[in-house]
Amino acid sequence: MKHKLYPNPSVLFHLSADGIVAIDALSKDEFDLTETYFARLKFWNGQRSDKLNDIDRDLLEGGLVLEQPAADSDWGGDKLSELCHLSMRNPASMMPSLSEEESARQFVELSREKPKELARLQPEVISWVDLPEPDLAQIKQDSLYSSLKNRKTTRDFDASSITAESLSTVLFASFGYIHGQKWDELAEDDLNHVAERKSSPSGSGVQSCDAFLTIVHVDGIEPGYYFYDAKDHKLGLLAHGCDDAAISHIMVDQFWVKGAACGIFITVDMNRVWYKTPFARAYGYVFLEAGHISQTALLAATSVGLKTWLSGSMRDEFIAHKFGVDGTRLFPVTSVFIGNGSDNAVPARVRDMVLKLRNR
Ligand SMILES: Cc1cc2nc3c(=O)[nH]c(=O)nc-3n(C[C@H](O)[C@H](O)[C@H](O)COP(=O)(O)O)c2cc1C
Repeated sequence: MKHKLYPNPSVLFHLSADGIVAIDALSKDEFDLTETYFARLKFWNGQRSDKLNDIDRDLLEGGLVLEQPAADSDWGGDKLSELCHLSMRNPASMMPSLSEEESARQFVELSREKPKELARLQPEVISWVDLPEPDLAQIKQDSLYSSLKNRKTTRDFDASSITAESLSTVLFASFGYIHGQKWDELAEDDLNHVAERKSSPSGSGVQSCDAFLTIVHVDGIEPGYYFYDAKDHKLGLLAHGCDDAAISHIMVDQFWVKGAACGIFITVDMNRVWYKTPFARAYGYVFLEAGHISQTALLAATSVGLKTWLSGSMRDEFIAHKFGVDGTRLFPVTSVFIGNGSDNAVPARVRDMVLKLRNR
């Protein structure tokens, strides 16, 4: 009888200095392969053999080849996105069932394993700007429903200035220590000392996100690139000079950003994530975290009467360079622009283009 084995489509390969490494994106198993093993793996991409040898048995045991062909993928996206998706999955084999006793014990052990302190990557600051006290009265008065209803994308900012107080309020509500800087409940039980509580949920409470800003029209604040220091509620100037043309370029020529008073770029500090969970799943969490914070910032800005626009597209490397961050361990995930303007989601220039094309 002829044998046939099949490639496992969730396995990816890369070359390291020591040779070929195979990683199963789903099971997370990792193997260093010799040339002989790799050659045998390639052989099983369509061939038949009279008998299985020791290498085949190893490949089968490691899940690098399968006895039955894998079902055709109906993922729909490209191979990279599929591998990304598989990497972030938790297969059943990684999720043993625990009793409540075991689950509680695991909670304590994981919380106590964490270090007492977790540093934040800090950019180099030219000078500091104190922010006025946040004015929380408007946020407190506005109902959640009205801010949900009034939050709409605008693509029509009018280039008028917003007050430093409005900016201060939005930053404090979305990135500030609204509960204070200590988490007493955890400290009392000697649990997770690095956890911080802010207005948005955060994986393990590590609060891996920060705010970097592009300021163009904020009363009393010089246009430039800034970092928000949530601990002292102040802005650190990172680079002078920021205008509509620079912002439009950063935002991949989405010209409708022109006229926005300020852009809040939500960055992720991977040092705060990797110290305990250096896995693809945790990488996925940072996007969720940035998403929570962006919605909070959008709602807070709406509550103080500002118009908003969110963009995930940006020139990643350019903006990282402007902020003086490496773009690898610390990088922007998304951006929220705030300012004054109309509720128009379709930019006037786009509407003109529609008319022009219609009249041809
Ligand atoms: C993750 C994400 C990325 C987005 N990226 C862009 C973008 O690059 N450019 C843009 O003009 N709008 C962007 N938007 C805004 C959406 O187009 C907008 O939210 C959507 O049309 C719904 O309109 P609304 O915000 O008024 O409810 C993005 C929204 C999200 C959630």
